[in-house]
Amino acid sequence: MSLPGRFIAFEGGEGAGKSTQARLLAEALRARGLTVVVTREPGGTPGAEAIRALLLLPPGEGWPPQAEALLFAAARADHVAHLIRPALARGDWVICDRFVDSSRAYQGGAGALGDDAITALHAFGSDGMRPDRVILLEGDESALSARLAARGGAADAIEGRPAEYHRAVAQAFRTLAEADPQAFARIDAIGAPEDVHARIIAVLEDLLP
Ligand code: TYD
Repeated sequence: MSLPGRFIAFEGGEGAGKSTQARLLAEALRARGLTVVVTREPGGTPGAEAIRALLLLPPGEGWPPQAEALLFAAARADHVAHLIRPALARGDWVICDRFVDSSRAYQGGAGALGDDAITALHAFGSDGMRPDRVILLEGDESALSARLAARGGAADAIEGRPAEYHRAVAQAFRTLAEADPQAFARIDAIGAPEDVHARIIAVLEDLLP
């Protein structure tokens, strides 16, 4: 069933500037008179935020890959049921910092579970819900890791994985975007935030009222 609102997801590796761009997009849409909900994954609802804490700071020895994928899917199911779907049903715009394509790239690709497993979990958990458009922020590894270093703070359990894992994530995102160019808009994330924002607005024009 098609809902009246619009759903935009930001995707990309660490340090790509997703949160900044999500905020700038929300401001631009509000300036056009739209009602906007900005949210993130894993998280966005009390239940999903509780699961986020388990994922990013795993108790014990860390989650086996399958359990990790199930927890992301469970958090997403709560987020879709309690926040995203109701907002879209009201006619709001929802901007989400990461969605199922993060699970496809991290757990499915870099984590080697495969796309079919992640897609099946998403079909079961969230009825296979897809964003109206995925904004994939891309940039070369050295530029993005410099941004991450400037941001500082301790890396979580996933961010702290080896460079090789993050390279596989970036490759998996590229593969997903190449396979479905209708769904993904690939955006060069390097440059001043206002310039990147302008690129994003340009690829959303057809969805704007
Ligand atoms: P996030 O808070 O968005 O981190 P960042 O600000 O560094 O992008 O996401 C937390 C981590 O969870 C991040 O390393 C990506 C990872 N992640 C997955 O592995 N699978 C998923 O489905 C999602 C949503 C996030």
